[in-house]
Amino acid sequence: MPNNQDNLIKELVGTYGRERTSLLPILQGVISQKNFISDFDMTEIAKELDISAAQVYGTATFYSFLDTAARGKYVIRICKTITCDMHGRKEIIQTIENMLKIKVGETTQNKIFTLLETNCLGWCHKGPAMLINDQPYSELTPEKVHEIIAEYMNNNRR
Ligand code: FES
Repeated sequence: MPNNQDNLIKELVGTYGRERTSLLPILQGVISQKNFISDFDMTEIAKELDISAAQVYGTATFYSFLDTAARGKYVIRICKTITCDMHGRKEIIQTIENMLKIKVGETTQNKIFTLLETNCLGWCHKGPAMLINDQPYSELTPEKVHEIIAEYMNNNRR
């Protein structure tokens, strides 16, 4: 298994290079393949880029889009910033929590969904907004979010 991980990092380094500026795209590449960045990955990236593991870790945790814990197949991120908050963010979260039987910060037992909050997604004029992986959803209502999540649940049953 370390071999596969090793190959992924090497592949990403091959694509993005060994510069400091390659660090972020490499981290994003790991996220898109595996949904999280393990300690092993961070050490490998540090070796490849010839920087300290602390630098890799610092960058990975600074960007809230880079997860350092195992996440579900679908990561739901609800905007918690003021405009979305004023337009009913709490009801949206409540609807999802009820459907998935988890709280913000948790992952369902089957590892399909993780529910998180995030800062402004840039959809304030159409809030409340959320992302599911990299797909944005806006102008959410409890009914609309119920439909969206139900569709993901159904697709995952097939
Ligand atoms: S405040 Fe929610 S998207 Fe900007």
